[in-house]
Amino acid sequence: MARILPTSDPKTLDAALAVLQRGETVAIPTETVYGLAADATNPAAITRIYEVKGRPRFNPLISHMADLEMARAHVHFSPLAEKLATAFWPGALTLVLPLNAEGDIHDLATAGLTTAAVRVPEGYARTLIAAFGRPLAAPSANLSGRISPTSAQHVADDLGDRIELILDSGACRIGVESTIVAVGDNQLTLLRPGGVSVEDIEAVAGMAVTRPGPGQHGAVVAPGMLASHYAPESTVRLNAHTAGQDETIIRFGGHVLANEEQAHAVMDLSPAGDLREAAANLFSLLKRADKAGGRGIAIAPVPTHGLGEAINDRLARAAAPRD
Ligand code: TXA
Ligand code: MG
Repeated sequence: MARILPTSDPKTLDAALAVLQRGETVAIPTETVYGLAADATNPAAITRIYEVKGRPRFNPLISHMADLEMARAHVHFSPLAEKLATAFWPGALTLVLPLNAEGDIHDLATAGLTTAAVRVPEGYARTLIAAFGRPLAAPSANLSGRISPTSAQHVADDLGDRIELILDSGACRIGVESTIVAVGDNQLTLLRPGGVSVEDIEAVAGMAVTRPGPGQHGAVVAPGMLASHYAPESTVRLNAHTAGQDETIIRFGGHVLANEEQAHAVMDLSPAGDLREAAANLFSLLKRADKAGGRGIAIAPVPTHGLGEAINDRLARAAAPRD
């Protein structure tokens, strides 16, 4: 079983660095979700990420940087990219930018594209990357297709017998993955809604963010965005206004569903109706609802503004047909 080391212990840093230097993976806390990190410049290390997650194929990964300066060594920043990085880093915004000639993010991390997805995470992840001195590739630290982890225990439940080290900083502050934006010449394209709202990005950029239409989303621009993802074992029903017999109900904002008395269990993403709180609770509530043993999970409507866009995106994937 993986060791779980608290990031508050000063000895944790050296333990993590030793594992990374051997080309192995370490589960790390970030403000969004826990990541399964490995040296983004080492092909064997990146291959380990795919093996551990059981990902069916190579999808491009996010390369996590200690700061803007480290990112600049690998990708090219236009003035627009620079503006966004300055405003939101460290933070839950991932920018897809052109690779430069000097960088050494490995092809396996970019899936051979001419661009790379980069972000500077908050907190301990950043301390670790700075000490390591190279970018860390890190997808969410869960088995492929499963719900993303927002605590060290979630990681242990999914991957504890496949990895050697999990770093524990407690619950993730934001709770959904980063927002991914492709930065073009005076154009911003949303590849994945996430922990920074589109409204906040547009306010800083002074321009609209384009949302690719259905069909384009995923297939072309963000190859890793599969329709079915975050899949609980239970069936998931969205926009529920009425509870079915023995269903596990996930409310939003304290709103009671019709026929709730016949439900198996009732939970609430945020009794106060706060979308930030709902995002932070989303994945752990989905896991709890899945374990509750009802006849399926029914989820009330969640507003679509602000972080609601990311929440609704993850809910749609959790409910999507699986193959
Ligand atoms: O919050 C997060 O972003 C978490 C934490 C650990 O940082 N990481 C994460 O990584 O969610 P991952 O690998 O699950 O998601 C990466 C997404 C994939 O959908 C992938 O297709 C997209 O980023 N992506 C990566 N590089 C890309 C590129 N060059 N062009 C377009 N999409 C890219
Ligand atoms: Mg993931």
